[in-house]
Amino acid sequence: MGISRKTKIYLAGHRGFLGTAIYDCLKENDFENVITFTRKELDLSNTIDTLHKLSESEPEIILNAAGMTGGVIFNQKNPASLALQNLLLQNSIFFSATKIPSISRVIYFGSSCMYPRSQNTPMNEELLFRGQLEPTSFAYAMAKLSGVSVGEAINKELNNCSVTSIIPSGVYGPGDNFDLKSSHVVAALIKKFSIAKDENIPEVTLFGDGSPVRQFLFIKDLAKFIVYCLDNFQSSKGIFNVGNEKGVSIAELAQLIKNEVNYKGEVLWDTSKPNGAPYKVLDTGKCLNLGWSPSTSFPEGLRETVSFFSSLK
Ligand SMILES: NC(=O)c1ccc[n+]([C@@H]2O[C@H](COP(=O)([O-])OP(=O)(O)OC[C@H]3O[C@@H](n4cnc5c(N)ncnc54)[C@H](OP(=O)(O)O)[C@@H]3O)[C@@H](O)[C@H]2O)c1
Repeated sequence: MGISRKTKIYLAGHRGFLGTAIYDCLKENDFENVITFTRKELDLSNTIDTLHKLSESEPEIILNAAGMTGGVIFNQKNPASLALQNLLLQNSIFFSATKIPSISRVIYFGSSCMYPRSQNTPMNEELLFRGQLEPTSFAYAMAKLSGVSVGEAINKELNNCSVTSIIPSGVYGPGDNFDLKSSHVVAALIKKFSIAKDENIPEVTLFGDGSPVRQFLFIKDLAKFIVYCLDNFQSSKGIFNVGNEKGVSIAELAQLIKNEVNYKGEVLWDTSKPNGAPYKVLDTGKCLNLGWSPSTSFPEGLRETVSFFSSLK
């Protein structure tokens, strides 16, 4: 069952958080022909270089894990870089896919920030493009939405190339970015509680009021889903949410991580800092209908991530 392990796959962004996990998972699943380039070998923001390089290497499938991303404060401070970098990188890949006959399939990663802000029930794929975005991540989300719309346009216009846009909920796990200037919430909380524990700091102050609800996905599960899509669907055109079924509030998340890190101090909330969107939970029904669901429970995933962070010290 599944596609040939000799299929030529170009994995863009193979040294990043998503890319490393996808690379490892492809190798665990015996894919023999995975092509990668360092940024020095191929700067994906250069569309013509990308076209030349991919014309030479003739991949059959592209997994696009290259991009720029960060947490709420990083989004507020770097909106132009986030928009431009993501637009340039994804456009280079999509442009090449429309020009190089060998490329029959592209998998693109969207983001849950692309959904309209004011939701209080799980969001399905139909909701995209149908409401106001969260202001703190507006520029990033617009760039990522543009990628989804180009992907759908390719699906309509071309017969020989299909695009799957995968929208993961907040991804976390080993290999995550723990730099507090740009990290996402799980990594940031693990780092803050760990430092406070190691340095006997009596309290930890977190951004916002703890009320926003978020949904998470363990990085290794996301990588497994990519391999599942490759193996089970020749094209799987379209847009798919992927995540754990339930959301948790940031206050609950803080408690879980505090316990996992074994920090005994107090948690304070800095309400002068933004909460971000109040509720970001994806409806993963379409993905469940493909016959796939994540296998790692949230506590298990957190334990592995805390243990990974400890190994960095
Ligand atoms: N992290 C999440 O929670 C999350 C959730 C949903 C969607 N996504 C999406 O997934 C993608 C990857 O995210 P990530 O968290 O894995 O980011 P990451 O760890 O920062 O990795 C980004 C990768 O892109 C590469 N890259 C950046 N600019 C490049 C350029 N000009 N030319 C060639 N390669 C370039 C980087 O190369 P170097 O190794 O040289 O730096 C790196 O390998 C992004 O598009 C993001 O929007 C991420």
